[in-house]
Amino acid sequence: MERGRAFLGTEHAILCGAMSWVSERNLVSAISNAGGFGVIACGAMTPDLLDAEITATKALTTKPFGVNLITMHPGLFDLIAVCAKHQISHVVLAGGIPPKGSVEAIKAFGAKVLVFAPTLALAKKLLRSGADALVIEGSEAGGHIGPVATSVLAQEFLPALAADHVVFVAGGIGRGDMIAAYLEMGASGVQLGTRFACATESIAHPDFKKAFFRANARDAVASVQVDPRLPVIPVRALKNKGTEEFTAKQVEVAKLLDTGQIEMGEAQLQIEHFWAGALRRAVIDGDVENGSLMAGQSVGMVTEEQPVAEIMAQLMSECEAALTR
Ligand SMILES: Cc1cc2nc3c(=O)[nH]c(=O)nc-3n(C[C@H](O)[C@H](O)[C@H](O)COP(=O)(O)O)c2cc1C
Repeated sequence: MERGRAFLGTEHAILCGAMSWVSERNLVSAISNAGGFGVIACGAMTPDLLDAEITATKALTTKPFGVNLITMHPGLFDLIAVCAKHQISHVVLAGGIPPKGSVEAIKAFGAKVLVFAPTLALAKKLLRSGADALVIEGSEAGGHIGPVATSVLAQEFLPALAADHVVFVAGGIGRGDMIAAYLEMGASGVQLGTRFACATESIAHPDFKKAFFRANARDAVASVQVDPRLPVIPVRALKNKGTEEFTAKQVEVAKLLDTGQIEMGEAQLQIEHFWAGALRRAVIDGDVENGSLMAGQSVGMVTEEQPVAEIMAQLMSECEAALTR
């Protein structure tokens, strides 16, 4: 973990991936205080809201933490300015290829940039054009996912990049043994979401947490694409009525596209707004029937509420035991 620790400035090279509505001041500071790396999920926040969230997080921890920005946010550059104002040390760009000038704008105030890359070719291009580290995230993960499993991505990316670059592996990691395996393949560290989502410090609604504790791996399913003309990024979540509503939403948006009432860009935005609203309903309001219970396949390994420090200690001791073996 040494390279990952040096890169993040942490005790452990374990990131808690940004989770919209979940990764706010309380969980982020708890992760960083426990020696990991917390990341604020900016999601659809305005610059003012992000400003307030960073200020509040700084009041709860003196340890490093990052900010995750969604590249398609219309105010991306204003959000980067907020990160600059607070001298944020690490910015994670998620949700697509970083738009022109965004990586440069982040590096200009001295922060490190982490990016996601769906293919090896794109990863190499992003690293050449200034990205400092890479997160590879497989389809086992919760939230928006790509089509390829973490185990396959690790075999494609790590032998090619890990010697010269900092690469974090995400998706489907629930135990320290798995962390050890990716470290042995050359990863600098790992990113987990699902395992931390229901920690004691997480503000997620008690009913959201209960749904996680009850669920098995097979309950965390990827959404289906209804219309081939409407490319939706699949989302992995626990199946419920909300999953079905997403299918209906796609049909509705496809009809608007057909009749020329909206363009493709607007169609995709409507889909993303659907998810943001549905996730809020589940996480904040506890509507586990109609809301979106975004969760990865490792949800079966989340069985009770535990403080972040306990989860972190458990992961590290499992990892050490595996490496010792
Ligand atoms: C409830 C939930 C919300 C998420 N929201 C975001 C997000 O807003 N931005 C993002 O980049 N990733 C998001 N993710 C993905 C996580 O940051 C992380 O990469 C992922 O959970 C790792 O895989 P795992 O769930 O198998 O541990 C979310 C994941 C979950 C479970």
